[in-house]
Amino acid sequence: MSWKTNLCLIFLALYIHETTSVPHQFEVHIMNGLGGPDDTLITHCWSKDDDLGTHVLLTNQEHSWAFRDQFLKWKHTVFYCQFKWNNLYKKFEVINTSWPNVCGKKNTAGCRTYRWWVRSNGFYLAITDHPVASDFVFKYPWDGTHSVNV
Ligand SMILES: *[C@@H]1O[C@H](CO)[C@@H](O)[C@H](O)[C@H]1NC(C)=O
Repeated sequence: MSWKTNLCLIFLALYIHETTSVPHQFEVHIMNGLGGPDDTLITHCWSKDDDLGTHVLLTNQEHSWAFRDQFLKWKHTVFYCQFKWNNLYKKFEVINTSWPNVCGKKNTAGCRTYRWWVRSNGFYLAITDHPVASDFVFKYPWDGTHSVNV
């Protein structure tokens, strides 16, 4: 092979290395932390490709799922959830794999485990494997008293 061919192959290899990567596994957990025996939480989560359906969570029950990110780095996966608790509701992105990695370059499995804790004053997130209460950061309050279909 000529040096030109070699150089081309080296650049091609670098390009492939830069634009692809082994897909990482992500996990999302939605925990009903509303507290009372009648505090049923209704969730409906979906991405562009998957609809996870409606889930009815009693206090301290959780709904969780795992997925692998897209093979190509410039693609990303977003899951949305709609939440309903009595006459309160909320909808937001529960995970977006192009959010900056909370652990920087370490990118260990715990950094890809998103735990949402749904409480009466709003939604808390911890991105870690074995969270303690102080790991949870307040993210969103509940929205008004509109009724919504989930
Ligand atoms: C996901 O996160 C990226 C980077 O923060 C942002 O640009 C994008 O709007 C977010 N949502 C979707 C649906 O891609």
